[in-house]
Amino acid sequence: MSDRPVGVFDSGIGGFSVLNALQAELPNERFVYFADTAHAPYGERGDDYVAARTRAVTRHLVDAHDIKAMVVACNTATAAAIHLLRVDHAALPLVGVEPALKPAVAISRTRRIAVLATRGTLASAKFNALLASLAAQADFSLVPCDGLAAAIEANDAAGIASLCARYAAAAGTFGIAAGKVDTLVLGCTHYPFVAEQLRASTGAEVHYIDTGAPVAQQTRRLLAASQQLAVSATRQEDTADATGTTRDRTRTTLLLTSGHSSQLDAAASRWLLRSAAPAAVFSAAAMAAA
Ligand code: DGL
Repeated sequence: MSDRPVGVFDSGIGGFSVLNALQAELPNERFVYFADTAHAPYGERGDDYVAARTRAVTRHLVDAHDIKAMVVACNTATAAAIHLLRVDHAALPLVGVEPALKPAVAISRTRRIAVLATRGTLASAKFNALLASLAAQADFSLVPCDGLAAAIEANDAAGIASLCARYAAAAGTFGIAAGKVDTLVLGCTHYPFVAEQLRASTGAEVHYIDTGAPVAQQTRRLLAASQQLAVSATRQEDTADATGTTRDRTRTTLLLTSGHSSQLDAAASRWLLRSAAPAAVFSAAAMAAA
């Protein structure tokens, strides 16, 4: 058992969709969330840049926050760097995210599946190996969504609406009848936050697949296997403990950003289901010195 925190990382606020699932699955754990906003978006930057940032952030969370496990809550960073993190931190339980193609194949009836993701994820060797392993089972249409994560970061409602309409149209014709795309994979952790805007184009019957819950379950499995689950890691709501002290959940998640703390706090109050402590800013210089 360990009360050390779990690190969670994304280029920005997209990983909040994973953090929500982690907090629901592991209510007794502490989390340190790092939004690398000063260097976002990752999706159009190229592998070397994303890998260098992912390694630097992970190193910082290990050295300065003594994390006991790391969740790379970003498809683009997972594709570019998870294999490098496994070498850098061989003893650290690591969980990555990738577009959920297998669950999509399992649920699709029409065998037509659209995948929305960043350009970086769709170009990666990791994603293409996964795609090749399933290509015989369904027809996949892949849509690189340039600019969408940035519009979500900026909370730009008009930009989000027009990009969602454009990328849904590029994915094909949606519906549950034969020949239509009946399943949409949200292959970037930012996109669950615009599911409603995408629904305007796809209709209500299309299946949406994201990875928050399975990633949280995998994190629980790895913590259990390494005997690091926090004390009584069972599902429970805020209650007084044996000494009569109510656990303060606002302190169980620490937010860090390489950008502006006010921007991350605003996004946290918009998207996080549980409140977090106000964000602290970590500049690249502070990170390098840590
Ligand atoms: N949220 C990230 C992902 O899951 C990437 C967004 C970006 O920075 O481009 O791929």
